[in-house]
Amino acid sequence: MTETSKPVLFSGMQPSADSLQLGNYIGALSQWTKMQEDYDAFFCVVNLHAITVPQDPAGLVARTRRTAAQYIAAGIDPAKSTLFVQSHVSAHAELAWVLNTLTGFGEAGRMTQFKDKSQKQGTDTASVGLFTYPILMAADILLYQAASVPVGEDQRQHVELTRDLANRFNSRFGDTFLVPEAHISKGTAKVYDLQVPTAKMSKSAESDAGLVNVLDPANVTKKKIMRAVTDDEGVVRFDRETKPGVSNLLTIYSVLSGQSVDSVVAEYDGRGYGDLKKGLVEVVEGSLAPVRERTEELLSDPAELDRLLAQGAERANEVAGRTLDLVYERIGLMR
Ligand code: AMP
Ligand code: TRP
Repeated sequence: MTETSKPVLFSGMQPSADSLQLGNYIGALSQWTKMQEDYDAFFCVVNLHAITVPQDPAGLVARTRRTAAQYIAAGIDPAKSTLFVQSHVSAHAELAWVLNTLTGFGEAGRMTQFKDKSQKQGTDTASVGLFTYPILMAADILLYQAASVPVGEDQRQHVELTRDLANRFNSRFGDTFLVPEAHISKGTAKVYDLQVPTAKMSKSAESDAGLVNVLDPANVTKKKIMRAVTDDEGVVRFDRETKPGVSNLLTIYSVLSGQSVDSVVAEYDGRGYGDLKKGLVEVVEGSLAPVRERTEELLSDPAELDRLLAQGAERANEVAGRTLDLVYERIGLMR
């Protein structure tokens, strides 16, 4: 990997499921794949974030590799971008500690994702790690002097906190960090649950029936799409308000086929939802089958996958280590 003068991009995903879901693929991975051309990009499998909720140890290792394999299979090129695992770079935990000491208790307490997640678990059982999760995320970003952080809308507040912490550090100890910007692409489609088309597709959904997993076998995905919730009107047209189910199918169809929603609507004009679903099954399978096959290939050779990740970790350690050295020097921590 050669040094470039391109701006730095940083993003990551938790290895918290055996498979990514279609929303991750459309909303994040395909975005990242495009952006890696214009940025010096760092893509991280954030396993330290994953342990803020209980994880089975063997499962965590497996899901870390599976997540990395899916990044590559979806088009993240380890020769262009730095793909690595968070726990391979100890600077993340070290900088997070420093940033913890600069974050106000009330400031951290205003993070809405913590409020949601801890409410779900019960405030008493939620870990302090879950509380400081956004500060570890700030460390991830600031270590690489990232200019751009592509994330979903739900992460905007965490990137705002990151900016506040960068500015605070810079004004207290001298210019050290680049202040990053969240990249929340307006054009990026949001994918909704096939059964509850008003809710975001998510691996934490109550029922599995509305969730399309990238690694599911074709027949499983086909069944889910054919059973997707629609409406009684029987007309293929886009209207998010009154026809959330059909509109979601049209969005997915449009994004994966590269056709505009209007042209998909025109194609299915006068035909039923069954036809639209059958067409969508093919479009989804056409996109996901190669990703699935490539993922399986990568997972069948864990030594090669680990070699790629070690290579990414080496570059990440170099860059992050430089920033951490400067931070320690600025605040008077002996090395
Ligand atoms: P998560 O694993 O839910 O934290 O999401 C990781 C990334 O995938 C984030 O950048 C999200 O914005 C994106 N993402 C997750 N679910 C969806 C969805 N249903 N539609 C679009 N993007 C999504
Ligand atoms: N919190 C992010 C999410 O749940 C994942 C994440 C961790 C991240 N560190 C990051 C995203 C740094 C962007 C940059 O989606």
